[in-house]
Amino acid sequence: MEEIFEGVYRRGKQLFTYDGKRYRAWNPYRSKMAAAILKGLKEMPIKKGSNILYLGVATGTTASHLSDIVQNGTIYGVEISFKAMKKFVELCKERKNLIPILADASKPDSYAAIVEEVDLIYQDISQKNQVEIFLKNMEKFDAKQGIIMVKARSIDVATEPKKVFKNVRENIEKFYRVKHMINLSPYAKDHVSIIVAPP
Ligand SMILES: C[S@@+](CC[C@H](N)C(=O)[O-])C[C@H]1O[C@@H](n2cnc3c(N)ncnc32)[C@H](O)[C@@H]1O
Repeated sequence: MEEIFEGVYRRGKQLFTYDGKRYRAWNPYRSKMAAAILKGLKEMPIKKGSNILYLGVATGTTASHLSDIVQNGTIYGVEISFKAMKKFVELCKERKNLIPILADASKPDSYAAIVEEVDLIYQDISQKNQVEIFLKNMEKFDAKQGIIMVKARSIDVATEPKKVFKNVRENIEKFYRVKHMINLSPYAKDHVSIIVAPP
């Protein structure tokens, strides 16, 4: 029988029962959202019914967990790599609240017609212009909340990560209120998670 993968996991392998309840393991080394929760995220902005635009969805490792959380909400997963998207499409066949979009997230006009209401933008793209991509999409979809996973080394290899994070925060704060900035070490080195909320 062909095995089904949910991102990097083999389907069903991470399920277990504790005290009569079913749980699914969420690996913080594989998913920055799990790392942010373990590193002190106080209030989870992603809830049952949330509609999410996920930029840099890759094969869907984190998206599969968010799919469990939002339930009747919808997750639009944008990915530029055809190879990763092919795997994500397989996951979308299993999980009906995931919608695949093969596109460049720096060009939100190219997928705006597909995306309906968005409550939150989740971004995990390790590119030099990652903050610009995030702000562009926040504005385009009039999102009230956002989570961006920032990789310092992708923005500037020569500058100390702390300085890069400070600049990124200041840049975002020109437009949005930063609710929380969480260092994801040791799960993801030189990464922070920035949670953005309405002013
Ligand atoms: C760190 S991986 C994402 C991992 C994923 N968020 C997870 O936790 O399961 C970053 C992804 O962003 C994608 N990416 C890079 N630039 C992009 C762009 N301009 N538009 C859309 N996706 C992009 C890459 O192909 C890669 O799959």
